[in-house]
Amino acid sequence: MRRPAPASILPGMDQTPTPLGRGALDACFLGPYGENDALLERLVTEFLRDHVYWRRNFHPEDPPAIPTRASQHPDYQAFEARMRHELHALSASLKKSVPFHSPRYIGHMASDLLLPGLAAQMLALPYNPNNVSEDAAPVTVEMEVKAGLQLARMFGFVDDPAREDCAFGHLTSGGTVANYQALRLALALKAFPVAMLASRTLDAMAPGEWPDDDWSAFNLGHDGAVALLAEWQAWLATLAPEERKRWQARLQGERLEQLGLVEFHARHPDLAVPKVLAPVTAHYSWSKGLKLLGLGRAQLELVPERGMRLDLDALQSALDRCLRERQPVLMAVAVLGTTEYGTVDPVDGVVAARAAMQARGLGFGVHVDAAWGGYLATLFRNQDGSLRTRDEVASGFASFPAPEVHAAFAALGQADSITVDPHKLGYLPYGAGAFVCRDHRATALLSEQADYVFDGEAAPGYMARYRRLGQFIPEGSRSGAAAAAVYVMHKVLPLDHLNFGQLPRQTVLAAESFAKRARRFSADVADVARACVPFAPDSNLVCLAINPAGNRDPAVASAFVRKLHEELRCDPGRPLQLKEFFGSITTLRHDAMGADELAHIAACLGLDPALLGDERVVILRHTLMNPYLLDTENGISYIDRYFDFLTARVRALLPLAERAA
Ligand SMILES: Cc1ncc(COP(=O)(O)O)c(C=O)c1O
Repeated sequence: MRRPAPASILPGMDQTPTPLGRGALDACFLGPYGENDALLERLVTEFLRDHVYWRRNFHPEDPPAIPTRASQHPDYQAFEARMRHELHALSASLKKSVPFHSPRYIGHMASDLLLPGLAAQMLALPYNPNNVSEDAAPVTVEMEVKAGLQLARMFGFVDDPAREDCAFGHLTSGGTVANYQALRLALALKAFPVAMLASRTLDAMAPGEWPDDDWSAFNLGHDGAVALLAEWQAWLATLAPEERKRWQARLQGERLEQLGLVEFHARHPDLAVPKVLAPVTAHYSWSKGLKLLGLGRAQLELVPERGMRLDLDALQSALDRCLRERQPVLMAVAVLGTTEYGTVDPVDGVVAARAAMQARGLGFGVHVDAAWGGYLATLFRNQDGSLRTRDEVASGFASFPAPEVHAAFAALGQADSITVDPHKLGYLPYGAGAFVCRDHRATALLSEQADYVFDGEAAPGYMARYRRLGQFIPEGSRSGAAAAAVYVMHKVLPLDHLNFGQLPRQTVLAAESFAKRARRFSADVADVARACVPFAPDSNLVCLAINPAGNRDPAVASAFVRKLHEELRCDPGRPLQLKEFFGSITTLRHDAMGADELAHIAACLGLDPALLGDERVVILRHTLMNPYLLDTENGISYIDRYFDFLTARVRALLPLAERAA
């Protein structure tokens, strides 16, 4: 029996909040010094008490089960002592943690946590909602679905649940699992038309422009497959219940999800296992994902880059070859903010290639891995969700955004799906990644039944469907508190340039200031070393290459940067306070640079270009997330201080007499 759709328990999302004032930024974080301790303490205490009242008010007639005198019992006291002992030990050992909150931390993709999210998560934890379904999380499941719509709007997807092509997003434990979900959905969409053909369902449905062989069915593309799915569902609705069941079972028997890859491809010997095309610097979760789905890492084809950005010519020749060799393509991945360099792939070019290849009979999906850079999209959005022009976005910046970067962000709405991590540039606690797909109808192909969780048919409507979240997501039980954190943070800081956008604005300004200061550093150490920012940063991640003066060998340059990094890396064996700054390293790869860039960098650093072709050069990598890198209150630039520190270290490691010949 159908249950009636419950009315929404959350306030609407459509009211436009007033833009955030400059002073409000100081209330956003606990702060490098714990400046907002009183605010956080008040919030935590207030809502903990509130939670206790909620317990008491459930059935006030039930007396306390734990006696008032219980705390006087020696066993109780012994237990409390044991617990305190362990908690003190934990608290003491956590003092060795990485100080992400400090503007002296410019290493990996982590920083301070946004108070609205942190407080919401702490508030929700004792309620322990499980976002697998509304049965276990009547409030936070809806929050998760709404958070997905908030993200969809930020990317330019349709975010109106009344529209049949509305987007859908859900949270994951992180970007890795969001990328798995992208693969899973793309595979389901790719194989579904083949199953329709094999089960002869297409013959039974009303005549249409349906594919008539396996190759064209496998290459119907995202939009074609979603349209076919919608037609099929509409046709099913016209059938009597028994007949509907019969056709559903018939189709099920041919679906890849039922047969598995081995049997599916055995039944369709003309179809090779599809490939995923991703840029060479793509995150290693792509390799993991292909292994996990049984497609195999061999199906991950890494496309060369130029200047650390996906090379569209190389992508085109890979696609041409796939078409020539009848090699199906599952998806092309563009990265919005690469893990190592923060660079932005030409999403616009990738979606254009998808359209051109679809016209030639090679259909595939486009996924944008914006785990890192996704929230930068707030800089590109007005409060009404419309896109800002490049000139509007550029106001106040020295060079951000490059025209190609603006074009990439403008094209996000045409991607088929996107990964974004609230636990990275969303400044929220770990355990919050997100997957967003452009057209929610596709998720019907992922649906999993479990009678003990999802009893009966869902009520009609978008929200009723996704109250059964567990049917569609790769994970099972998940933290509803994390969903509360994401939703509340987005409500307090709406995802447009006047609200949340003010945070990435600070970090991009810091990156511009960093790149400028790096030029002075390069002049300051010119007598002992050559240094340069190897490629213009697209966002807020800036690298720095350093080579001892006179050295031509990339291996020597790498060894030197590793030595410098010794001072910058996390070292649990040393007291934290002895560390001046935290930074990270990565390598310059020839397959990510392209020949022109390679020659340019070799010239800047004085390295032998012939050797640079084989050797990966180690460089410093800086993630500039902290909003207080430029501390206007005290007139301190931690960027200046970092470069002063670096200058001193370079000089200490390379005294003039010992520099490389
Ligand atoms: C581009 C990109 N994709 C995916 C991931 C994986 O995200 P997570 O570590 O949250 O699983 C990362 C992590 O750094 C990333 O930078």
